[in-house]
Parts: sequence; structure tokens; C-alpha cells
Amino acid sequence: MNIKDEIKALKEQKNAVILAHYYVADEIQEIADYVGDSFALSKTAATLPNPIIVYCGVSFMGESGCLLSPEKKVLMPDASADCPMAHMVTKAEVDAAREAYEDLAVVCYINSTAEIKSWSDVSVTSANAVQIVRNLPNQNILFIPDQNLGRFIAEQVPEKNIILVNGYCPIHQNISPAEVQELKDAHPNAEVLVHPECPEAVTRLADYIGSTTGIIKHATESEKQEFIIGTEIGVLYELKKRNPDKTFYFPKTAPTCRDMKLITLEKVLHVLQTEENQASVDRAQAEAAGNTLTRMLELSK
Ligand code: 13P
Ligand code: SF4
Repeated sequence: MNIKDEIKALKEQKNAVILAHYYVADEIQEIADYVGDSFALSKTAATLPNPIIVYCGVSFMGESGCLLSPEKKVLMPDASADCPMAHMVTKAEVDAAREAYEDLAVVCYINSTAEIKSWSDVSVTSANAVQIVRNLPNQNILFIPDQNLGRFIAEQVPEKNIILVNGYCPIHQNISPAEVQELKDAHPNAEVLVHPECPEAVTRLADYIGSTTGIIKHATESEKQEFIIGTEIGVLYELKKRNPDKTFYFPKTAPTCRDMKLITLEKVLHVLQTEENQASVDRAQAEAAGNTLTRMLELSK
């Protein structure tokens, strides 16, 4: 049996399900039962009947799986795969903002640790952030930790006071506006689709700004044939699968998330065999952190 067949057989035997983010390697997306962006995966994790979830992604995703489905075993193929941005805010920054504004809502990007979620009022993903922030009753919003997504929300919801911190995704932050401009010059008919985690100099060059699902949907529905993509290279697998005749260009310094790429078929098989690397959340944080996710799911219906 080859490794993919072994994974499939063991998964069926244990009634396990494999979830994968669009940024993991192609061969992992190929064997997954569900591939999606952070929002789709969190919704799926909350409703699946399977007792075991193998979560092919980084640690905040596994934690979110535990928070939404505490009765399930959530297994992480690589326990060290982590999102650096998920740690980029301190409790002192949150406390200072709560002190300064009486009506403050603390809105955390789902790319944050369970501890950071436990300090917050509601979580959001890049797919629902604008809608949720717009509909909150609060005038003052502390958005943590991604300054780039926060700036994008502030532009879309100008009627609110959005307070930012200094977090960022190193992968999207590193996308070079000069390289995007070079692609635009070389392919003047291409549409430019970028993720809101990109810096302002990149989003200014875009025709469309959206989550990974938004980018894939936009490219699929667009009448254009060529696209310049400003997000992690892993989305190319789904873009090509849905649009075999369209052409996609990425900046020449291909945006690659080292942590997402730590997931391999061997590690997926290993956790299915051993049930090691079970994701968990500190009990003291679980209730408050879980509430931010259930609130997100309610507010984005
Ligand atoms: P989305 O899945 O919300 O598009 O976010 C991208 C990301 O960086 C996940 O780590
Ligand atoms: Fe974190 Fe960026 Fe990697 Fe997403 S792409 S997991 S935000 S480092």
C-alpha cells in the first residue's frame, strides 16, 4: 500500500476526518476531506460528527478545533507548526485600550493564541471581519494582532474608530510591491488579487482584496484569463484545479509559509497511527476563548 492509501484506510478505520488549509502542500490538500480558508475550516470543525480530526494547519487552528468541539480529539501532524503572528500582541496593550475606552470591543483575528482570544470579545477571520466589525454596536474597536487586516477593516468601516497594534504576517508582509508592479507591467491584462494581510503598498496595487476563499472565488467567477496573486503560494493548487485554463502569476519571491509546509504525508500517517500531538487549550482560557469563536459563528450567519 502506498502512503496515501494507508492514510485513507486508517482514517476510515478510526472514523477520522482530515481538514487542511489552502496553504499546506499540494499532496496534503489532495488527501484532505475538507480544504478551506480559516473560516470554512472553523465552521466545518464545529459541525463534523467524527470523533477524530486531523488538522493540517498551524497551532491556532488546532486550538480553535478544540474550542469548538471540546469532545473531539484534534490531532496536529506537526506540533511545532505555529503562526508567528498569532502571538504578536500583549495583555498590557489590551488592558491599556480597555482602560482608555469605555465602550471598547476587542476583536481578535482567528490567527491568535487561545490566550489572546480569552482577552477578546469576538474572533473574526479575513472572510468575515468587515461584516462583523461593521455590525458591532461599539464605536471603538481594538483590532489584534494583524495591523494590515486591521487597516483594511478601518478603510471599509470608516465610521468606526479602529485601534491597531503592530502584529503582521511575515509571509504577506514580505510580498514586494516592486515585484507585483513588475508582474503588472509584464501582464497588463491580468487582474491583481491580494490578501488583506498584505502591506498597504501591495493592497494599493490590487483590483480585489479578500480572504483565500475570496481570491479563489473571484478568479473562478472572473471573465479575465490572467491573474496576479498576492497571497501564499499554496492557493495555486485550488486555483488550478478550479481553473485549468487560466494563468496565475505569483511574485518571484514566492510567498511561502514555512510553518504550513511542515505538514507532510508521513506526519499525517504518524498521528493517525499513534494519536499523538493532540491539540489542547488551557482550561482557564477555554471558556472565554471559545465564546469568541461561537460569537463569530453567530455573527457571520
Ligand atoms: P484566511 O484563511 O482567512 O484567508 O487567512 C489566511 C492565513 O494566513 C491563514 O493563516
Ligand atoms: Fe501565519 Fe502568515 Fe503562515 Fe498564515 S501565512 S499561518 S498568517 S505566518
